[in-house]
Amino acid sequence: MPPCRSGVKSALAPARRGGGGRRPSPSRQCHRHGPVRRDNRPRMTRSLPTAASSVPPVAGALRAAAPARPLAGRIAVPGDKSISHRALMFGALAIGETRITGLLEGEDVLRTAAAMRALGAEVTQDGPGAWRVSGRGVGGLVEPADVLDMGNSGTAARLLCGILATHPLFAVMTGDASLRGRPMRRVTDPLSAAGARFAGREGGRLPLAVEGTGDALALDYRVPVPSAQVKSAVLLAGLNARGITRVEEPEATRDHSENMLRHFGATVTVETEGAGRVITLAGQPELRAADVVVPGDPSSAAFPLVAALLVPDAEITIAGLGLNPLRTGLLTCLQEMGADIAVANARMAGGEKVGDLTGRFGLLRAVDVPPARAPSMIDEYPILAVAAAFASGTSRLRGLKDLRVKESDRLAGTAALLAANGVRVEIDGDDLIVHGTGGPPAGGGLVATHMDHRLAMSALVLGLAAAAPVTVDDAGFIDTSFPGFVALMNGLGASLAPAGRG
Ligand code: S3P
Repeated sequence: MPPCRSGVKSALAPARRGGGGRRPSPSRQCHRHGPVRRDNRPRMTRSLPTAASSVPPVAGALRAAAPARPLAGRIAVPGDKSISHRALMFGALAIGETRITGLLEGEDVLRTAAAMRALGAEVTQDGPGAWRVSGRGVGGLVEPADVLDMGNSGTAARLLCGILATHPLFAVMTGDASLRGRPMRRVTDPLSAAGARFAGREGGRLPLAVEGTGDALALDYRVPVPSAQVKSAVLLAGLNARGITRVEEPEATRDHSENMLRHFGATVTVETEGAGRVITLAGQPELRAADVVVPGDPSSAAFPLVAALLVPDAEITIAGLGLNPLRTGLLTCLQEMGADIAVANARMAGGEKVGDLTGRFGLLRAVDVPPARAPSMIDEYPILAVAAAFASGTSRLRGLKDLRVKESDRLAGTAALLAANGVRVEIDGDDLIVHGTGGPPAGGGLVATHMDHRLAMSALVLGLAAAAPVTVDDAGFIDTSFPGFVALMNGLGASLAPAGRG
């Protein structure tokens, strides 16, 4: 029986526990229709990945060659990955029904949807990008019956650690080989101080067992390295802690969690402190369901955008794109390189800045990227390095230490990607130095993608404008963040095809 939407809200408030923690309420009461059972039955109209299927479908090797005609067209890219994860999570922690439009339906976000359902929220897909989440209230999630498989997604795993840490339940999280290799101590260390207990493999790696607490201490934490994931994990834990959670970040990172917390009714303050910020959150708010419109993902748009800059005579417009100032470091770099990029129709939508971006082919010059820019473009370095390979002069991308612990070692992977295609490249400490060719590099390489979607897409964009086609060993992981990438690019005139075919 579907939950009655009228009159449910007040009856949904989760019961309080003696220790200040909150207990999930097993049933809802609708004042007109009596009790509404919360039975956790699957309600999704499309199948989600199950705990057993930790490896996404393999698409195999893919080859990118120079297109027969200049790339041209107006497109929209899939919804923002960071905002999509958070919309599902906050929806699950709110009272009432959250409607989401433009949700990214990539593997990573579908893992979060499956996890929130396993934790007792109702998660329903109504149509492409249109989802509903009926939440259980702050502290109201239930113990999952099985292992939570977060696939390839570090964001899903780390943010979920924050949520689980302050729920009185036991859960085990795992992921694919890439995620199982990624460090988790950056979140489990602060969350342990809130009273949660974690047991993982060497280095705190997944599989990770979590014993959350229903009686959490509010944290006061200075994030040692700029990381929106760590900041968000601490804030999510703070939702079900008594008192004020305070997070200090040395450099400002994407603020989607703060924006969305406010949007769902939490009391959040943000103060600027030099290059950083201090964020406070008042614990145990009653989050209220709120509709979320997810803008296009600037990190995904980076690939067609850079393709437009590199393929002769190309011109591409990407509409409805998220332009949150904490995500636009790549645009700053490309503009410094002399790229022909124009923003039109800038507006606010759903609490985030959005606009339409047009990129046109042109000559690029080298760029020197300061380390302080890293948080605003952390996922865009591989594609920036590709642009730098075509530029005249030597580019230096500074302070890329954290790239070593992304879906793969992206610093080494990016250098190898370029070297395999005739570009001179060096790693100097934490800096990447790219000696631009001032035109199309040789290409012709076979690139190892190491289960990393962004390395795969970067190499394919290189292949669209290099002198000889570029092949990636496995394009399957592109689906984690950019489902439909190949069809979208080919619709613009690109020639991406299974390796071995024309
Ligand atoms: C993300 C934060 C970034 C980014 C990731 C998404 C987020 O990671 O690389 O793809 O949604 O908070 P870090 O915060 O660890 O740098």
